[in-house]
Amino acid sequence: MPLIKWNDSFSVNIVEIDLQHQKLVSLINDLNQAMLQGMGKVALTNILNELVAYTVNHFGTEEKYFAQYKYPDSDSHKKEHLAFVEKVASFKKDFDSGKLGLSIEVMQFLSDWLQNHIKGTDKKYGPFFNTKGLK
Ligand SMILES: [Fe+2]
Repeated sequence: MPLIKWNDSFSVNIVEIDLQHQKLVSLINDLNQAMLQGMGKVALTNILNELVAYTVNHFGTEEKYFAQYKYPDSDSHKKEHLAFVEKVASFKKDFDSGKLGLSIEVMQFLSDWLQNHIKGTDKKYGPFFNTKGLK
């Protein structure tokens, strides 16, 4: 069973962003599945690296639109992105060095953060961008 199941309540009403969010959901589900199956460190590292890279790229897309359309809540939104990137980077460092393993708690943190961020913070920009013609 996937950790996160996509449904319409995740939609921000912008196709490009919804597709990127779906990819993030699927990477977190893949990582969770790999952890539960007891896959080796190389396999977990590969998925984790992809998740980190895709997250950075995705935040870049959102922030590009914030700048392009002068989104008024850009600063506080970007702060949430930065805090998450720093948290995940420190987790990845501990994982790479063997100090910390992937666990249900770590996966739950990633899953909760993404769902809360999309449904709380990201959904706020949907109507704003829609009025700018971004759909
Ligand atoms: Fe965001």
